[in-house]
Amino acid sequence: MGIMQRSAPKRSNNSTRIVITAIMGIAFGFLVGISISSAHLTKISLLSGVKNSFGIPMSEIERYSAEIGRIRAVIDESSGTKNIEALGSVRLPKINVSSNPRGAESLPPGIVVPESDLYLRRLWGDPSEDLKKKPKYLLTFTVGYDQRHNIDAAVKKFSDDFAILLFHYDGRTSEWDQFEWSKNAIHVSARKQTKWWYAKRFLHPDIVSAYEYIFIWDEDLGVEHFNGDKYINLVIKHGLDISQPGLEPNNGLTWEMTKRRGDREVHTVTEEKPGWCSDPHLPPCAAFVEIMAPVFSREAWRCVWHMIQNDLVHGWGLDFALRRCVQQPAYEKIGVIDSQWIVHQVIPSLGNQGEADNGKSPREAVKTRCRTEWAQFQARLTVADKMYLQELTPNGKG
Ligand SMILES: *[C@@H]1O[C@H](CO)[C@@H](O)[C@H](O)[C@H]1NC(C)=O
Repeated sequence: MGIMQRSAPKRSNNSTRIVITAIMGIAFGFLVGISISSAHLTKISLLSGVKNSFGIPMSEIERYSAEIGRIRAVIDESSGTKNIEALGSVRLPKINVSSNPRGAESLPPGIVVPESDLYLRRLWGDPSEDLKKKPKYLLTFTVGYDQRHNIDAAVKKFSDDFAILLFHYDGRTSEWDQFEWSKNAIHVSARKQTKWWYAKRFLHPDIVSAYEYIFIWDEDLGVEHFNGDKYINLVIKHGLDISQPGLEPNNGLTWEMTKRRGDREVHTVTEEKPGWCSDPHLPPCAAFVEIMAPVFSREAWRCVWHMIQNDLVHGWGLDFALRRCVQQPAYEKIGVIDSQWIVHQVIPSLGNQGEADNGKSPREAVKTRCRTEWAQFQARLTVADKMYLQELTPNGKG
């Protein structure tokens, strides 16, 4: 996952060569398909795949090659370009590639770019020289301007291997430019939305596929004892697909699992209060991190993104379901990094921006919705499991 479709033709100085190569590629692929399939009838099922992947009649390839040949377009950096507009108006070959992404079947595979990134580019110069460095990791915070000093302190704990993306829930974005790093950050603004609302809309796995790890963090985390690069090294060393830094025990601590252990680098299992865990390897004793400061590998995020519901914006209950998105046994792939740890400062922020509802204070009304969402999410998940299993059962309907 993630690294497919990276084999698009490499851009060279002579782009005419690309065009011709692509066309020859199609023609060659087709010819190979034809000649072999007539010689080895027994392999027909394999070969029909080769042939059908383009499905272009021979006459069409000849026509197209001849037409391109007549144009004599030149696209060359040193000698300039000639006649490129003519290439834009040739009669197109018929293309129907079923292995392309859905909706893009009419495009030649060499031009299809199914994934993107958040790299900032220049408006001038050669695109291949835009980026001095490609950040390997993506750090996102959902923020209000009031927390700027906390975020400023946090950002300084991450090297330039991390791209920074801020989701603003209070509409204040340009004021952040008081910090130098903000000018190289990406700012997304939508009022009074939650972290998971933004994540679902702006962190589609195909958009963030350039990043090996993705941090989806709250704004009220104290990072004095944390370093981004060291954290990543430990995540890689211990093969964790979903992780979080240990939490300093304070009044914000809900679960034993995420409490920092002073005597180790990392832990993946813990003991909860008696009766809380049906199995020592299942949540909340293991295979579990909180939704406050999770870090996802690219592969795990691709799964988790699909599980996020558009309308359940608080993400409650997601923590217990994360184990569905890693290789089993999940308790080996989900863990807490103890030696790079954070403090949950429990600053009421977005939670105070709700509205009074049904006689409840704004804060209470938000809390109530969190709990309702947890129940709804759990119900949907359970129903989905049941429906899936019923379909697997012969005559299982009803
Ligand atoms: C493309 O091929 C698929 C089958 O592979 C077919 O169902 C579809 O109708 C074709 N589309 C066009 C525009 O020919």
